[in-house]
Amino acid sequence: MKLHYLGCLLVALGLMSCGQQAKKETSVEIVPKGVWNDTDGNYINAHGGGILQYEGKYYWFGEHRPAKGFSTEVGVNCYSSDDLGTWKYEGVALAVSSTPGDEIEKGCIMERPKVIYNAKTGKFVMWFHLELKDQGYAAARAGVAVSDTPQGPYKMVRSGRANSGVWPENMTEEDRALTVTTDDFKEWWTPEWRKAVEQGLFVRRDFEGGQMSRDMTLFVDEDGKAYHIYSSEENLTLHIAELTDDYQNYTGRYIRIAPGGHNEAPAIFKHEGTYWMICSGCTGWAPNEARLFSAPSIWGPWEQHPSPMRGVEAEKTFGGQSTYALPLGDGRYVFMADVWKPDCLMYSGYIWLPVTFGTDGMPTVEWQDRWTLTLSQAGKE
Ligand code: GAL
Repeated sequence: MKLHYLGCLLVALGLMSCGQQAKKETSVEIVPKGVWNDTDGNYINAHGGGILQYEGKYYWFGEHRPAKGFSTEVGVNCYSSDDLGTWKYEGVALAVSSTPGDEIEKGCIMERPKVIYNAKTGKFVMWFHLELKDQGYAAARAGVAVSDTPQGPYKMVRSGRANSGVWPENMTEEDRALTVTTDDFKEWWTPEWRKAVEQGLFVRRDFEGGQMSRDMTLFVDEDGKAYHIYSSEENLTLHIAELTDDYQNYTGRYIRIAPGGHNEAPAIFKHEGTYWMICSGCTGWAPNEARLFSAPSIWGPWEQHPSPMRGVEAEKTFGGQSTYALPLGDGRYVFMADVWKPDCLMYSGYIWLPVTFGTDGMPTVEWQDRWTLTLSQAGKE
């Protein structure tokens, strides 16, 4: 096997006898901010990504970014791996369209794709942030695409705003009935404006047309229910929305989290019954301090904690921005972030670090120049 992952080393491939089954142990060295190449020797181009685990394999989906420019010229890329260190390029999972006017026409913006598997339909379901061609970031849509195989090709189901005509469950009747509108504010960021945002100024504005959906992730709970978590309300407030049984639509049940908190880039995981969410602030491509939230239920109450990052440049999330939290299935999680390089987005870097839990039960993510990720998977002898 050819390993091109910088400094990536298959340290161990131990075979431990276990009756009919053998436990295959793999160890790879992860170098955050290193040069991460695929097995063809090409730089891994999968930004704002997430990872699907399916039948013992990992599939990494992310934004294909060009060397120059900001719009999507290719689509969503897919790579596969057995050990989370050796990545084989699987091709373009969701390709842009060459049809003028198509919602995913080449030149649109596809960001932060995530894929989950739906056991009921046998389909792989991708959600991503979509901006329409030549419209900047105004569309603020979520795109949904499906495939019968993990690597694709995925076909568009639809794209659009979220939860039109439905109120968030945790917005009071009084706030729903307020008549103050965005036109009442000449200036943003004043105390009055902030209060109005908290009281759902933008939820009311977008009630009919649907709520804005930009930075996003997906989360599947232990009971099989899935959720779309997205930055809404002009990136001021996160929403968590329940998905239908086929994971392709909303049920209409959703909540707002930290209204006016200006959180984006959500990465969510559940550990010993507690839901944890790491986010960033909103400073575009520039890094900022991570935010941490927890809740006893997906429906809250969500409580904010200090940033979980530790070590050099922790106050800037080590130069990165969260994108996903990958559960390894044994109480371990990998925090994944992007180091954006707006001058050449293609070569934006990757930070993967382990999440560890302190004696107080709080998660922390500590900077390490390199670390070893060990997996053991049951396989046939
Ligand atoms: C960031 C966001 C990225 C991308 C970028 C565009 O705030 O997290 O996903 O949208 O802005 O400037």
